[in-house]
Amino acid sequence: MEILIIQGSARKNGNTNKIVNYIQEQLDCDFIDLKNYTISHYDYDSRNRNDDFLPLMREIVEYDLIIFATPVYWYAMSGIMKTFFDRVTDCLKIEKETGRKLRGKTMAMVCCGSEKDVVLEISAAFEMPFRESASYLGMNYVGSVYTWMDTDDISGEVIQNLDKFIGKITK
Ligand SMILES: Cc1cc2nc3c(=O)[nH]c(=O)nc-3n(C[C@H](O)[C@H](O)[C@H](O)COP(=O)(O)O)c2cc1C
Repeated sequence: MEILIIQGSARKNGNTNKIVNYIQEQLDCDFIDLKNYTISHYDYDSRNRNDDFLPLMREIVEYDLIIFATPVYWYAMSGIMKTFFDRVTDCLKIEKETGRKLRGKTMAMVCCGSEKDVVLEISAAFEMPFRESASYLGMNYVGSVYTWMDTDDISGEVIQNLDKFIGKITK
């Protein structure tokens, strides 16, 4: 199974990246940082069709399991990740053959906040756009993990949750 992690944080080597690195140590998978690409906001007239989104998406749709990794920004996914999801609309309108390749593929999500209580409290609402988008795109949604970084290192509890998540999405 070909696995890809897509990171959508405002910083390349921040907390979300520490979580992503841990997952990468456990799983043989590829990594994409959305910060390395120019992906502009969705445009109804597709005037941005020549930015990095469509070529990147053509690579992404070749994977079997796609894990989205986002920090919690204002109780929701990061702006960079939301812009990416908005642009998936291009795969339903101007490049349908790429969008169709997502059908039957698998999606999972990892989020990283700063406090345990906050991330657990918002978890159901936070997950909804991922779960529902997967369903709309004909993808199988296999779950999420809520992590937090209140020190420089990943806590034992978060590691336990990550290990459980990794076991679940790869079984
Ligand atoms: C713009 C912004 C908004 C944030 N909003 C929240 C929030 O709503 N809830 C929360 O628990 N943490 C919030 N945080 C804290 C981050 O979720 C937390 O520090 C996270 O680990 C940062 O990951 P990063 O280093 O990949 O950006 C926010 C941080 C930023 C920069």
